[in-house]
Amino acid sequence: MSEPKRYLVTSALPYANGPLHIGHIGGAYLNADIYVRYLRAKGKDVAFICGSDEHGAAITLRAKKEGKTPREIVDYYHGLMKKAFEDFGISFDEYHRTSSEEHREMSQEVFKKLEAQGSFEVETSQQYYDEEAKQFLADRYIMGTCPHCANDKAYGDQCEKCGRSLSPLELIEPKSTLSGSKPVLKETSHWYLPMAHHESWIREYIRDGKLNGQQHHDPKEWKSHVVGQCMSWVDGGLQSRAMTRDLDWGVPVPLPNAEGKVLYVWLDAPIGYITNTKVWAAKNGKNWEDYWKSSDSRLIHFIGKDNIVFHCIIFPIILKEHGDFILPHNVPANEFMNLEGDKISTSRNWAVWLHEYVNEFPGRQDEMRYVLCSIMPEQKDSEFTWTDFRDRVNNELADILGNFVNRVFVLMHKYYNGVIPAVNGEASNAEKSAAAEARRAYDAVGSAIETFKFREALAEAMNIARAGNKLLTETEPWKLMKTDADATARILHACVNLVADAAAALMPFLPFTSKKILSALQVETQGWEEVVQREQIASGHTIGQLPILFEKITDEMVAAQVAKLEASKAAVVHSAKPMLDAIDFESFQKMDIRVVKILEAEAVPKTKKLLKLKIDTGVDQRTVISGIAEHYSPEDVVGKHVLFLANLTPREIKGVKSEGMILMAENASGALSFMVPEREVEAGGQVK
Ligand code: MF3
Ligand code: ZN
Repeated sequence: MSEPKRYLVTSALPYANGPLHIGHIGGAYLNADIYVRYLRAKGKDVAFICGSDEHGAAITLRAKKEGKTPREIVDYYHGLMKKAFEDFGISFDEYHRTSSEEHREMSQEVFKKLEAQGSFEVETSQQYYDEEAKQFLADRYIMGTCPHCANDKAYGDQCEKCGRSLSPLELIEPKSTLSGSKPVLKETSHWYLPMAHHESWIREYIRDGKLNGQQHHDPKEWKSHVVGQCMSWVDGGLQSRAMTRDLDWGVPVPLPNAEGKVLYVWLDAPIGYITNTKVWAAKNGKNWEDYWKSSDSRLIHFIGKDNIVFHCIIFPIILKEHGDFILPHNVPANEFMNLEGDKISTSRNWAVWLHEYVNEFPGRQDEMRYVLCSIMPEQKDSEFTWTDFRDRVNNELADILGNFVNRVFVLMHKYYNGVIPAVNGEASNAEKSAAAEARRAYDAVGSAIETFKFREALAEAMNIARAGNKLLTETEPWKLMKTDADATARILHACVNLVADAAAALMPFLPFTSKKILSALQVETQGWEEVVQREQIASGHTIGQLPILFEKITDEMVAAQVAKLEASKAAVVHSAKPMLDAIDFESFQKMDIRVVKILEAEAVPKTKKLLKLKIDTGVDQRTVISGIAEHYSPEDVVGKHVLFLANLTPREIKGVKSEGMILMAENASGALSFMVPEREVEAGGQVK
């Protein structure tokens, strides 16, 4: 396949319904940014396009939850996401939005063309309608009992308990989440994409990389999990899919008699790539059609694995039906990144939010970029943990890269006042092999990026710094200076070159750090191939001062982040138990709660959970059986003053009469704890 004339690189348009987290960045943005920065350094013509996905139930549901309008929601999150991307150096050429006027025009144009030429089929069906809210219900707006696992909180599109996908009609006892009422079935018409008609060319396109009988791309360059997921869809038989919805938020269907209908969000959102390219082109004196309609342009979609079928099957069908557009050359989807042993979840607040990271670790975006690239879920799911973050920053970024660069600057200033010395004599083997390793690693970075192996590419870039450290360790210029000035000068000159090489190779991954190093060297990068031209580092060139590149991540920082996550988990556990109905004061006063002293304690034989306690209530002495044996041992409890419900009707437990109940507080993990008066209160003291 010939080299393309230009590249069109997209990242999935994130829903404007919540802030961005590390899973987003590691999934579809950091990899795309690395790829694009590399292509730009090679002097390629590239457009890097993204934007906010502002339609669909993802948005309207969030709006409802927050008591806001969809417009307010997308305005807020669009701004927040745009800023987070900028802060992390994700260098989109355009970050636009699907609620824009330009996008309405573009997506309506595509829809109209397809409709006019008969690409859709209109079908009438029965769908759930909420008579109180007077609207048809999107799948997510219907809840009911899952027919497979009996979970009574299953959604109309999926049961989150057993993971099966559902249709609203399968739900037992469906309920509208808008009004709580029972929805009724009502007839409605929609425009469907008959995907089965496209099965045979889609199969060829995915399996063989062929389009219209010609080789379009090399299917072996696609990730196997991407091809696998698509083929299993195609083999399962492609079902017609509705391309319109009854909803009041979205791009209106541009036809008469279609009031109240909008384009399906998965139809309009990918067209957003086209809209946003057009918006960018208009601002930059480019022609958007060169990028979308010319066979010498190459389209690459970076996405997460949940978006595969939309980008590899549905959107290609739309593009091909439209007729003018090119199809994706590759869709290097990533899998998922988990966090501290659990799935990242916006609703459960189990995430590392980018806007919070920027506040808590100011100026340290490259550290996060480094770690996320090192653990990118390229072939399988991966996991972010804060201790791993600490280790990679401290042991790799600081100890390998930071340390090498810093040593070179220190020695250069100490021996040569920062002026590159003249070089005399023949290079030693150590010098030669360091230079050769740098060259090899540099080239390896490029080929790994081109084949979407970003973890490997980053490791190779770091190998340049490793080679530099090795050269310093083997030759020890700080000793050599006394005996062989020529060799010392040669080695440090070589090291300055290695610093420049490392900075250039790391530029796509660590743009902020790379810039700091290059400006401290007082040199500029040329294209990727030329790296940093050697004339810039010739004898007589003066280097500047190096700022601190990386500070260590402390154990306290790790602990604070883990504690923050634990707190989110606790909040979820506790809020899952809603507050009980109100009671009046008299009802409360009926409870006789007292401070009591525990006098004796022993395990109840043949039980795991029970302790038999003898207590002093201040009024009498009693025996109670308490289910705390898994949380306290008998010797821990004797002598404690704790809270006690004294007038609970006595019950017989394991043959013992238990008169009252010790009160315990439960934390999110289910551990029980006594309630102890904060100042001294003697047995008998009342709680009121
Ligand atoms: N908003 C979708 C998601 O977050 C992705 C849309 S990608 C696009 O899963 F192609 F539709 F733009
Ligand atoms: Zn289920």
